[in-house]
Amino acid sequence: MTEIYDQLGGPDGLRTAVTVFYNRITADEELGPWFEGVDLDRLKAHQRAFLTAAFGGPQVFSGRGLREAHADLAITDAAFDGMVTTLLRSLADLGVPKEAVGAVGERLEGARADIVTA
Ligand code: HEM
Repeated sequence: MTEIYDQLGGPDGLRTAVTVFYNRITADEELGPWFEGVDLDRLKAHQRAFLTAAFGGPQVFSGRGLREAHADLAITDAAFDGMVTTLLRSLADLGVPKEAVGAVGERLEGARADIVTA
């Protein structure tokens, strides 16, 4: 967590990463519809939760577990892949070294079984 956090440039870098990722997801033809109608605060909270899971940080969110939170959303493997790929590309574009980007991808893979239900 600290490694990639430092590579992004601390809190400001993390904020930039959330914004870049958020813009790409909401503009994406396939992924955007999943977040339509979700209010902005919740959407930003989602992107933060996603990045925190990706970086292996402490689970900052409380309440529902990942499986329960996504149970009714019919998320496909393709959508999961799309979210992960978008994040990895965003991190690479922000200058995070290849090796660290790869580690993020592997870590997120561990959440697939909880998220994908379609
Ligand atoms: C490791 C991957 C992911 C993590 C850590 C994660 C995290 C979360 C969390 C913590 C919530 C609950 C929010 C709450 O109850 O306040 C949530 C809800 C949700 N997630 Fe994810 N998520 C992941 C992947 C995905 C993917 C791949 C999609 C869609 C393609 C998705 C779409 C949604 C939507 C639409 C909600 C409901 C939003 C709302 O109404 O608040 N998530 N997610």
